[in-house]
Amino acid sequence: MRAVNGPGPQIRILTADLPEVATDGLAVGLFEGQRAEPESPDPLLRAIARVVGLGDFHGKFLQTCLVYPEGFAAPRLLLVGLGKADEFNRDRARKAAGAAATRMRDLGAKRAALRPAGGGDRLPWRDAVRCAVEGAYLGLYQHWEFKTEKRDEINALDELSLLVPAAEAESAGTEARDAAVVCQAVNWIRTLVNRPGNALTAAAFAEEARAMAAERPGIRCTILGRDEIRELGMGCFAGVNAGSADPPRLIVLEYDGERDGKPLALVGKGITFDTGGLDIKAKAGMEQMKDDMSGGAAVVGTIRAAADLGLPIRLVGIVPATDNMPGSHAIKPGDVLKSYSGLTVEVGNTDAEGRLVLADGLAYACKQFGPRAVVDMATLTGSVYVALGSVATGMFTLDDRMARVLEGAAEATGERIWRLPLWPEHEDLVDSDIADIRNQGEPGDSDGIAAAVFLKRFVGDLPWVHLDIAGTSWADKKQPYIPKGGTGVGVRLLIEALRNGL
Ligand code: BES
Ligand code: MN
Ligand code: ZN
Repeated sequence: MRAVNGPGPQIRILTADLPEVATDGLAVGLFEGQRAEPESPDPLLRAIARVVGLGDFHGKFLQTCLVYPEGFAAPRLLLVGLGKADEFNRDRARKAAGAAATRMRDLGAKRAALRPAGGGDRLPWRDAVRCAVEGAYLGLYQHWEFKTEKRDEINALDELSLLVPAAEAESAGTEARDAAVVCQAVNWIRTLVNRPGNALTAAAFAEEARAMAAERPGIRCTILGRDEIRELGMGCFAGVNAGSADPPRLIVLEYDGERDGKPLALVGKGITFDTGGLDIKAKAGMEQMKDDMSGGAAVVGTIRAAADLGLPIRLVGIVPATDNMPGSHAIKPGDVLKSYSGLTVEVGNTDAEGRLVLADGLAYACKQFGPRAVVDMATLTGSVYVALGSVATGMFTLDDRMARVLEGAAEATGERIWRLPLWPEHEDLVDSDIADIRNQGEPGDSDGIAAAVFLKRFVGDLPWVHLDIAGTSWADKKQPYIPKGGTGVGVRLLIEALRNGL
């Protein structure tokens, strides 16, 4: 199958003047209220004066205007509105670049050039370059794997040039390469998330992780199958898999970017399709449940990016992968399972399967790897989706330092997170009459928090953060740098946080 979402366009750093840039299309960002200069000797300023004078373009955020000016080596020039100068920020820079790059691609351009809005009192050049690459790479992503017709009509950009001042060229090149590596990991996991349940089974997911690791000497990959999972005593994980004809996989990735010290453990929910099990889901919305392995995908994507960047840290990634099916061996509401940690778990609801597989994944990470801290990512609850929508990931933690690092990373990357509470008063949400703990609270009663309280029991006293990405893992509608479908959320956030000492 042709990988349409290949590596992304080749990046070139240019210091040429705009009129001299040989490319199929040149994109220039303009702030709102830029003065028109009809008599200017600069052909760009004259072209802009014409469209501004006609009232066709004001520089409103994400407004675009295509012009065909004389005196340029490029045949087309795309004006992109950057909005009010004092409202400009990193995320606007990403969105503008995403809009520009996708417009160029859709016009059929093979090569495009853009001038990041850096310098002055705006963004430092390095940040502007990074955001331009992120916006373009993430915005240009397409998932055409399963289309067999009209493939030759699919447009793709081969080359993306960034215009920067000569003094910035060297650091711009470094920053651009770094950003592209991370975005390639994001786009890779978007493809895994977008693959339907029949194409990305637990075994297929594990093979993807294995192949990724095989290309990178810094990553060690171990995969456990059904028998090993049962023999280890992972009763919760095995229980979720029990109703499926397809075997589970425990994906374990280790990256040692430094010799000594304890690793940070990343644990991701890897439900390749969530039917709900015997507590089966309603028709509406079940189709999207192929994205229920987004947390696991974010774990493998983060480890891939960390290795490609050579970050000086140790990481271990754990992904319990299975679908959640209502087959004849399926667990039943009321069943009691014995977890890997030893705690017994009452299955209040078979659709609360994410916290079951994570319970064993978290306990395994803690017992086998002695991590210094743990972060888990999971499309865990409709409750957090209802609370925060698709705008923000829900964060639960008792560790204020980790919370601050992640909040800073959220601000820098545009992957918003919002901290929700885990108070002592919440502890009894998951009390069980029959077992040590129950996988569901009172229906309708702060289930996002109940899920977090449940998970907390399996990490002991280690510093731990739970990120509920139920709302942010999937985009129902296209945004300037997030195409419809799997968003790949989590990788950019964690890489930034890891760089800042998470
Ligand atoms: N994967 C779902 C959570 C989810 C729901 C993600 C909607 C994205 C969109 C999870 O496994 C689930 O089914 N949770 C239940 C838990 C309930 C039965 C206690 C939920 O949120 O309804
Ligand atoms: Mn479920
Ligand atoms: Zn689920």
